[in-house]
Amino acid sequence: MKYKYTFSTQLLSWFNQNKREMPWRETNDPYKIWLSEVMLQQTQVNTVRAYYNRFIERFPDIDTLAEASIDEVSKYWEGLGYYSRVRNFHTAVREVQVQYASKVPDDPKAFLALKGVGPYTQGAVMSIAFNHQLPAVDGNVYRVFARLDNDTFDISSSRARKHFESKVMEVMPEQAGDFNEALMELGATVCTPKNPVCLLCPVNEHCEAYEQGNMQNLPVKLKKIKKTVQHYKVLLIHKDDQVIIQRRPDNGLLASMWQFPMFDIDMHVGDIEEQMDISLHIEREPFVKTKHQFTHLEWQMEVYHAYTKDDVELPYKLISPDEKDAYNFPVSMTKIFNYYSEFKQ
Ligand code: ADE
Repeated sequence: MKYKYTFSTQLLSWFNQNKREMPWRETNDPYKIWLSEVMLQQTQVNTVRAYYNRFIERFPDIDTLAEASIDEVSKYWEGLGYYSRVRNFHTAVREVQVQYASKVPDDPKAFLALKGVGPYTQGAVMSIAFNHQLPAVDGNVYRVFARLDNDTFDISSSRARKHFESKVMEVMPEQAGDFNEALMELGATVCTPKNPVCLLCPVNEHCEAYEQGNMQNLPVKLKKIKKTVQHYKVLLIHKDDQVIIQRRPDNGLLASMWQFPMFDIDMHVGDIEEQMDISLHIEREPFVKTKHQFTHLEWQMEVYHAYTKDDVELPYKLISPDEKDAYNFPVSMTKIFNYYSEFKQ
């Protein structure tokens, strides 16, 4: 880029005049800024607002969060997805309580060493809260710089981060935090994936893709994620007015969350009964078929009503449907609860 200084000045002045209001932009508290960045990974600003406000109301500071149980904390994350984010954040906040006297370290290396903190979170929090001159490269920033330089570097490559970080550092001004946020804001509101609003872009005079009319082809992403599809039988097992739920293992996908018992689609009733150690009557036809998408995985679920008279033991548990708010359910299971309540009416 030819005019580094004008570029950052123009972008910062645009940001100061046009930035959207967000609750985490009203604070200098590094804990709150950190929380916002963790929530904003993979989730839209508008969804995050309500979650952020509720979370901060209940856990206003490091000590309150560190002293809460992970089950309670996860409840405040329910529906945001990518639940390992909240478990890592909670672990990291406990590390901060113990190792740094409940103060988020004003030291990029120390911060990066905390659980769940990668280069993006490090750059974002350290620049926004303490003004360290570090890049914070997310998908928005890839797109902005790919277009500015008409750069066809493949953003799915493992070297993309370093490549685009060094471009950011070439134009990094003193006001590092505002600058990083301005880049994200530009990507989110002007330099959008489809139909970018180049006429309103404060830095369009620096944009080679705009000059060449090549915006729509950038950034280049070669690797397609191959989704694994898994097929499950999900059982809504009734005993009197209660249903059986099951706690998932403490590690891996949706760790420790609750679900309706689910089994490989090809599993036979006899094997399910043996595995659950109860006897079951399962209806012949599913009452609903539904699917749920994760980043690399899709669950296709056939949900059956089933009935038992037996006692159940952990990891299974009987609850009445109106107790469900006391447990953490992933979105896929909440959907099933909703189908079930519609079905009952
Ligand atoms: N996305 C991630 N972090 C953000 C921030 N601080 N402002 C706007 N969008 C963001």
